[in-house]
Amino acid sequence: MSLSPSPARMLPGAPVAEAVLASVQSRAQTLQERGVTPSLATILVGDDDASAGYIRIKQRQAAALGFLSPHVHLPADTTQQQLHDAIRAFNDDPDVHGVLVQYPIPAHLDYGAALAVVDPDKDVDGMHPMNLGRLAAGMPAPKPCTPAGIEALLDHYDIPVRGRHVVVLGRGATLGRPLSILLSQKRETADAAVTVVHTGVPDWSTHTRAADILVAAAGVPGIIRPEHIRPGGVVIGGGVRYEGRRLLPDVDESCNETAGAITPRVGGVGPTTVAMLFRNTVDAAELMAARA
Ligand SMILES: NC(=O)c1ccc[n+]([C@@H]2O[C@H](COP(=O)([O-])OP(=O)(O)OC[C@H]3O[C@@H](n4cnc5c(N)ncnc54)[C@H](OP(=O)(O)O)[C@@H]3O)[C@@H](O)[C@H]2O)c1
Repeated sequence: MSLSPSPARMLPGAPVAEAVLASVQSRAQTLQERGVTPSLATILVGDDDASAGYIRIKQRQAAALGFLSPHVHLPADTTQQQLHDAIRAFNDDPDVHGVLVQYPIPAHLDYGAALAVVDPDKDVDGMHPMNLGRLAAGMPAPKPCTPAGIEALLDHYDIPVRGRHVVVLGRGATLGRPLSILLSQKRETADAAVTVVHTGVPDWSTHTRAADILVAAAGVPGIIRPEHIRPGGVVIGGGVRYEGRRLLPDVDESCNETAGAITPRVGGVGPTTVAMLFRNTVDAAELMAARA
């Protein structure tokens, strides 16, 4: 008798985001009663349709939560100096609590240099070099949104992380590297044994096959296939590549039959990332209000 494999438990991001945002909204209301309206400022450079769409999603979410969302749209031929000036204007505005430069920016501009100009206290993306350093040192700092969203997702679905073996495919600055730091920290929802694999580890699948929790963070469509995962293990798809408007995830759909639990190809880590942006913004607003 052959037993057909049962499909994995799905781990959608939307219920996680809803729970996080409900708490953010209630904290925003408490701040408003004290005369402080959380404010997330965004800067878009150029005319990329997808980026403009992401800004609109954030503005709609901001409005739904009662946040302000001042926005500056700079032309595609903006200079590095003009971009820095726009960032500094929001840094200097005491009514702004978070500053986000929408990625990507036109190729003639240096995103890393722009990021370093953001006031670290208003770095709600958690990607300022000072905040990444604080994260590595175990000091309080805004957590990078995508890694923090993955930790929240695992927690929401009661997936044990403490003491488990997490393998992350990818050591990029946005996802793999900060996630490996976050999940190895000594905290209730972390405390894992974390292995990071990348192109320097050609036999990376020997590690991923041993993972209790595998996080794909490579940005290589379909790189994770059933033979790369432990049957019954947890698979989190973080890496994606866009071809036009088409989203191509790292995790091949065929993994649904082998994994025990898995994020959906669309609507997994994305919604939790956005929720973390607003959580970081309300954190920043509370901190600034406490200092005032
Ligand atoms: N879902 C979301 O909301 C969200 C948010 C942010 C980022 N992302 C996605 O997360 C992914 C990672 O972004 P990132 O900026 O952190 O990383 P990144 O800088 O794009 O680096 C990719 C990493 O994957 C590794 N890699 C690539 N191809 C590989 C291969 N064939 N075998 C083994 N390792 C390979 C690279 O190894 P080497 O270091 O050896 O080159 C590198 O460490 C991207 O797809 C990005 O779009 C998603």
